[in-house]
Amino acid sequence: MAIRLGDTAPDFTAETTEGTIHFHEWLGDGWGVLFSHPKDYTPVCTTELGRVAKLKGEFAKRNVKVIALSVDGVEDHKGWIGDINETQACSVDYPIIADPERKVAQMYDMIHPNALDNMTVRSVFIVGPDKKVKLTLTYPASTGRNFDELLRVIDSLQLTANYQVATPADWKHGEDCVVVPAIKTEDIPSKFPKGFKEVKPYLRMTPQPDL
Ligand code: BEZ
Repeated sequence: MAIRLGDTAPDFTAETTEGTIHFHEWLGDGWGVLFSHPKDYTPVCTTELGRVAKLKGEFAKRNVKVIALSVDGVEDHKGWIGDINETQACSVDYPIIADPERKVAQMYDMIHPNALDNMTVRSVFIVGPDKKVKLTLTYPASTGRNFDELLRVIDSLQLTANYQVATPADWKHGEDCVVVPAIKTEDIPSKFPKGFKEVKPYLRMTPQPDL
């Protein structure tokens, strides 16, 4: 069955390029990104894994651990990492799950047989510190993902987890936020001392509260 927002991310134990990982234990108290790839030694995946390696500092800054998955074995993954590091000028130092029996892939509904026969599609799951799924994304094999967008979503998730705001279209860290509809307009000044603008009674904007 498909995994929905708010579900507990299924726990699993898997072999990875960094040894055996028990997923929930490995996540600890922080955030996690689990993302799948169709196959080792494929071109788009090579660029994606390289991009994630180069964003290591950005994920770490946000207390996010990243873990990839592809339906090949550890030895294939390790050989492929050599190619990724060479061609993308990076150092892949996050784990890649070996899932030749598709156990994790089935658990997370990463195999869409009408799109890709026997390979995982490009799935992404963002998991919060409470182990609940906060975002799911599914891309086709032919389209590499935008990892800046993932960081942007993480910024929004981390902000909205702590403040009664939502983030508008194309929002980026530092930009104005939407006050959630549950807050009455007369209560905004006490909750958002930086001020607010009432564009419409249902559309109230306030500066990003945690800056
Ligand atoms: C790729 O990563 O380049 C890829 C993988 C499977 C199908 C098509 C492209």
